[in-house]
Amino acid sequence: MKNKERRPGKPFPGAKAKGNGSDRPGSAKPASAKGRDDRSSRPPRRDADAPKSRPQPQAVDTAAEPSRPLTVRSGERPAERVPLILESTGAGDFHLIDSGEGLKLEQYGPYRIVRPEAQALWPKALPTHVWDKADAVFTGDTDEDGMGRWRFPREALGETWPLSLLGVDFHGRFTAFRHVGVFPEQIAHWSWMKEKIEAADRPLKVLNLFGYTGVASLVAAAAGAEVTHVDASKKAIGWARENQSLSRLDKAPIRWICEDAMKFILREERRGNRYDIILTDPPKFGRGPNGEVWQLFDHLPLMLDICRELLAPKAVGLVLTAYSIRASFYSIHELMRETMRGKGGLVESGELVIREAGLDGKTPGRALSTSLFSRWVPK
Ligand SMILES: C[S@@+](CC[C@H](N)C(=O)[O-])C[C@H]1O[C@@H](n2cnc3c(N)ncnc32)[C@H](O)[C@@H]1O
Repeated sequence: MKNKERRPGKPFPGAKAKGNGSDRPGSAKPASAKGRDDRSSRPPRRDADAPKSRPQPQAVDTAAEPSRPLTVRSGERPAERVPLILESTGAGDFHLIDSGEGLKLEQYGPYRIVRPEAQALWPKALPTHVWDKADAVFTGDTDEDGMGRWRFPREALGETWPLSLLGVDFHGRFTAFRHVGVFPEQIAHWSWMKEKIEAADRPLKVLNLFGYTGVASLVAAAAGAEVTHVDASKKAIGWARENQSLSRLDKAPIRWICEDAMKFILREERRGNRYDIILTDPPKFGRGPNGEVWQLFDHLPLMLDICRELLAPKAVGLVLTAYSIRASFYSIHELMRETMRGKGGLVESGELVIREAGLDGKTPGRALSTSLFSRWVPK
């Protein structure tokens, strides 16, 4: 994860253990997750023409759920484009005003919000009196839950407020883990996805894994896609459904599925269901609704392997985001290229960054890195 300073607090939806230094919902470390992982000794399955001498990766089980071996892939690795820095300068109701001294000042609709940002090593660009006028400041008080971890210097604010991005309406939300119900750096992926869906000559099928409050699912549905949204947290699915109503997309074809992401994709693979776009934004650690353990470094290879199998013949993309400080973008880039061997196309990987835009939202400043990504596209 990019930010290590988060203090323990109330676990987010999907995370039953206490926080330990990851900064995203569903990212907290179990006491002995490793011990619970039951690595199967079944042999890996092979592409028909896979060379026999390739090392055989191990299968991964999540909480002793049905699993399968990793496929040994053959064929050329896809072409590559690195590094690709996807920059958001804000959209709709969001922009990054300023950052520095371990903090960031963001505009979310009517509110200016101050939150910790370990990446911001530089000095603040705007004067103190601007920062002091913030509407909400994340304090991170460890003896408080939920809203108590926020301070509202101007007037008491409610837990939610209306926001709009890329044409969809949803709730901003002051959560106990300093998140606000949306990860705006994802705008870069969502704009890309929206364009692809709108340009397609058929309704594209989109699978959104670890979908949280559903903003990506709503952007996809509003653009005309049939969407399957998967998240382990009932609470997050509830928020996503609220957002669906706010966006007046109640009749849009969205399946809301509260399930462990790995279990779900394993079943989809067996059923033969296929998708044109898959978004996967896994936390470093998470839990499924029945305690299934998700560990990024253990489970990502199998997750990508299955996602590849879930791609429709005319798929438009597979997009992975990772918020792990232990990895470089090359880790997920090379994993993606190995997974997509023989599939042609292009793998482009790099970072998602947000550019400061000043008080007016129009004055470009410094780039704030948020996460790593890797994206396979057919060409
Ligand atoms: C990092 S957020 C995803 C953010 C979202 N993609 C966005 O940009 O708005 C992580 C989400 O993963 C969910 N999660 C954690 N473990 C999970 C699991 N095993 N299966 C499915 N979802 C899980 C959490 O409930 C949380 O909503």
